[in-house]
Amino acid sequence: MTEGRLAGRRVAVGVSGGIAAYKAIECIRLLTEAGAEVRVLMTPEATRFVTPLTFEAVSDHPVAADWLTPQGGGESHIKLAEWAEVIAIVPATANTIAKLALGLADEIVSGTVLASHVPLVVAPAMNDVMFSQQQTQDHLDVLKARRAAIVGPASGRLASGKSGLGRLAAPERVVAVIEAVLADRRNLDGLRVVVSAGGTREAVDPIRYVGNFSSGKMGRALAEVAAARGAEVTLVTTVPSDVEGIAEVAVGSASEMLAALQRACADADVLVMAAAVADYAPAEVAASKLRRTDRPLELRLRPNVDILKTLGPRRGLFRVGFAAETEELRAQAQQKLSAKQLDMIVANQVGVDGQGLASDFNAVTVVTPSGVVAEVPRLPKWEVAGQIWDAIDASRNRGA
Ligand SMILES: Cc1cc2nc3c(=O)[nH]c(=O)nc-3n(C[C@H](O)[C@H](O)[C@H](O)COP(=O)(O)O)c2cc1C
Repeated sequence: MTEGRLAGRRVAVGVSGGIAAYKAIECIRLLTEAGAEVRVLMTPEATRFVTPLTFEAVSDHPVAADWLTPQGGGESHIKLAEWAEVIAIVPATANTIAKLALGLADEIVSGTVLASHVPLVVAPAMNDVMFSQQQTQDHLDVLKARRAAIVGPASGRLASGKSGLGRLAAPERVVAVIEAVLADRRNLDGLRVVVSAGGTREAVDPIRYVGNFSSGKMGRALAEVAAARGAEVTLVTTVPSDVEGIAEVAVGSASEMLAALQRACADADVLVMAAAVADYAPAEVAASKLRRTDRPLELRLRPNVDILKTLGPRRGLFRVGFAAETEELRAQAQQKLSAKQLDMIVANQVGVDGQGLASDFNAVTVVTPSGVVAEVPRLPKWEVAGQIWDAIDASRNRGA
């Protein structure tokens, strides 16, 4: 049996006729790599951009492109509609989006969607004007109201040479959304989430800082998983990486992070403080570069701003803290939870090889005022983030 996160899951990918049709190849590769079975459907226009033969090779299965002659290899729209667990339209042209919204069915992609009850993922890609046009926005609203997951588009360089909003979302992002839909985890739809990430940098002089080993990976994973599950995410980070689909605010010191979080949290539903905020900062910042001498240099540190304490609790804002500890993990976490009046704390043991700060793996204990709600064993940070969001969602629903 195939292994992988999507082992045995049945995904129908409908390709419509835009320049980005070739990017569907990468989505299909990622899906099959994760263990999914993929069947490709193409609109007649799409076959003029990329040949069915290419999709046949990457999906390892005949392509359904001409629904009037299914004996050509591909299956009929009814069979495909019954076979699929999810249908993803990648890319979705303005024309195909309009047809899906209106219930037209004049070729196999729109025909299969209309003949199916399974969830729909739509990844629009088009010229920025076509995308911003009211007609297109209205059609997307109709699809959203029918609970379709719309992924993207992204901003950037378009086929026309201009820059704007209309590029197909990154294949990894499209696949993450398909995965969330298959796991029935689009449960953060519309939630406004703020995540902080990375270690703060406290200036010593204009070119040096006091910092820590945090890589920002845990915070980024939390932000990416939340976005894939439908949340509107702002990531306040000291390690910006321009993650698509996430509003990123780059900061350096703890006081910059505090100011950015104060703005971002004003209308947020959840704050996850995954950043490693320096507890101490240099008491004085030298105005010019400190010169090297042969004598020891003494740095005096002052207690740094306490971000969670300063932000304080706010009705409607679910606040999650992180506690990286080297000893007495649970006791320290519980103490921090009550001292900062948090709704949840995620405690992780640092100083263990192969997990935690700067690693791609983590193992955490999730604690709420009612006790330990999850023990997550050592897993890739992406999966740890998934379990943390499960715990946040369950805890918010219990409190609701
Ligand atoms: C070179 C070229 C590129 C195109 N790129 C796009 C595109 O990226 N997005 C889009 O919505 N339409 C695009 N179109 C227009 C569609 O191909 C056209 O609306 C077509 O009828 C779509 O058919 P379909 O939705 O059935 O696949 C493009 C047309 C041409 C000639």
